[in-house]
Order: sequence, then C-alpha cells, then structure tokens
Amino acid sequence: MIVVEKVSELREVLGMLLHSGDSIGFVPTMGALHRGHTSLIKQAKSENQIVISSIFVNPTQFNDKNDLLNYPRTPESDAIMLSDAGCDVLFIPSVEEIYPDDKMLEMDFGSLERVMEGSFRPGHFKGVATVVSRFFEIINPDKAYFGEKDFQQLAIINEMNRRLKTGIVIVGCETLREPDGLALSSRNIHLTEEERASAGIINSTLRWAAEKVRNANIEEVKKEAAARINAVPGFKVQYFEFVDSTTLQSINKYDSQHSQRICTAVLTSKTRLIDNVPL
Ligand code: PAJ
Repeated sequence: MIVVEKVSELREVLGMLLHSGDSIGFVPTMGALHRGHTSLIKQAKSENQIVISSIFVNPTQFNDKNDLLNYPRTPESDAIMLSDAGCDVLFIPSVEEIYPDDKMLEMDFGSLERVMEGSFRPGHFKGVATVVSRFFEIINPDKAYFGEKDFQQLAIINEMNRRLKTGIVIVGCETLREPDGLALSSRNIHLTEEERASAGIINSTLRWAAEKVRNANIEEVKKEAAARINAVPGFKVQYFEFVDSTTLQSINKYDSQHSQRICTAVLTSKTRLIDNVPL
C-alpha cells in the first residue's frame, strides 16, 4: 500500500498504478478503523482494480470542538488494517491540502439535512458534503463506498452526487455488527462496561419495531421502542423515526410498496450512538 499526503503525490502515484480500463474504488474515512470500514475496502476491491482510501478527520463536520479533539486517532493500526483488506493507496491529507481556502459547498439539501442528525448536529452535513465533494474532485473515482450505518449521510451524498452530475457510482454497504447487534462504530470505545453490555438493545428494538409496525400504529410503536431503550441506565433516545428511505420524511404508515427505514440516535453517558434498519 502506498501512503501519500499531497494531492500532487496522489496524482503521480495514480499515473503510475493505473492501466487503461482500470476502475478506481474510493472509500473515505476518518480513521480509528474497525471491521465495518474494512468491509467497505473489501467490497471496493472486489469491484475495482485500484482502491483508494482516505483518512481525514474533517474539521468542518464537527459542530462540537471537544468531539473533534477527542475523536480517536489510531494511524498505525489503521494503515495495517487497510493494507490487509486490500487497499492500494492511502491518502492522508492535511487540513490545508483539503481546504486551501474557507470555501464550503453551497448546496441546500432542504429538509434532508435538517431532520434527525441534522437537527442535533447543525452544519454537520454541509461539512460532510463539502469534504466528500472535494475528495471526488481530487480523486474522480468510478465508484465510492459508504456505509448504510450512516443512512442520512448516504442520502445526502447521493443527492449531492446527483446534483453535481459527477458520474460517480455511489455504493451503499450493509452495516457490520457485533454479535449482539450493536453496529460497529469508532465511538463504541466510549461506552462504559455496563452500557456496552446493554447496547445490543438499540438494534434489537429497531428490529422489533420493524416487525411490530406491520400491524400496529407507528406512534404507539415509537413510544414503546423509546421506553425500552430509555429503561437502560444512562441511555436516552434522541429520536426514533420511521422515514421514507429517499426523502427521509416521517411516514405515518407502513407501506410495503415503498422503501422505508427506522433510524434512531441514543445519547449515552459519554457518546452518541446511531443505528437504522430497513422496514
Ligand atoms: P467514518 O465515520 O470514519 O466512516 C467511514 C465510512 O465507514 C462511512 O461510509 C461509514 O458509514 C462507514 N461505516 C462506519 N461504521 C460502519 C459499520 N459498522 N458497517 C459498515 N460501514 C460502516 O462517515 C465518515 O467517516 C465521514 O463522515 C466521511 C464520509 C469520511 C466524511 O468525512
């Protein structure tokens, strides 16, 4: 695996590695990697000749300075995991390399960026869209891989990509989970031992709600779901929403003809966990 820090080096390396007809798969990350991230690399490797990953803790998507400062950084083990998973090129740019000026992507995502995560993390998705569009410009991959774990992020990136007409294929990848259903996340290390022992309840409640809502009232299911999760000491449900998978607007009825999703965010003593399941 070749590691580069500068856009100019990246272009040089790609010039060397790429043969005509080769496709590039791109997997952006913020590091502190786990098997969820490497599953994206493996999928990208199975569909492309060259896989590029980036590690960049993007300051513009953190609305809380402490969250940015405390974001886990594990560069050595990240590089080993990426290389083992089949990554060809790792791009680790500096902030100056990605943001030579303060320009943000001026794109209004409307309610897509205001609901759920958007309402708890103002400006977050503007930062995500800005950095991903910048990476797309620099790398111009054939395909880019994102986890369904961050479902709203995936929806925003799809929308951005559609409007910018990049021609890049966005691939949404399934969420990797611990045996008890907890979605793998760099933030799980902030759970206390007791919280970790109970955290499987988030996914089991989502799955329970997905079944239950087929023949029950959504508001009732929401209430009971929140009560189940809130019963764990230290856990507080911030939202538990039944939404249309594309518009992310709340739905008031299960509809087998439309793609729908349940998304939740749970505040714990030191961190926030998000998860979602299809309906
Ligand atoms: P990060 O949180 O590092 O996640 C990088 C990618 O890994 C995202 O597409 C995320 O959805 C995916 N991912 C995380 N946990 C996963 C899991 N358990 N199973 C499958 N995929 C998982 O998301 C970001 O970084 C940033 O916002 C980024 C897109 C890099 C822009 O800065």
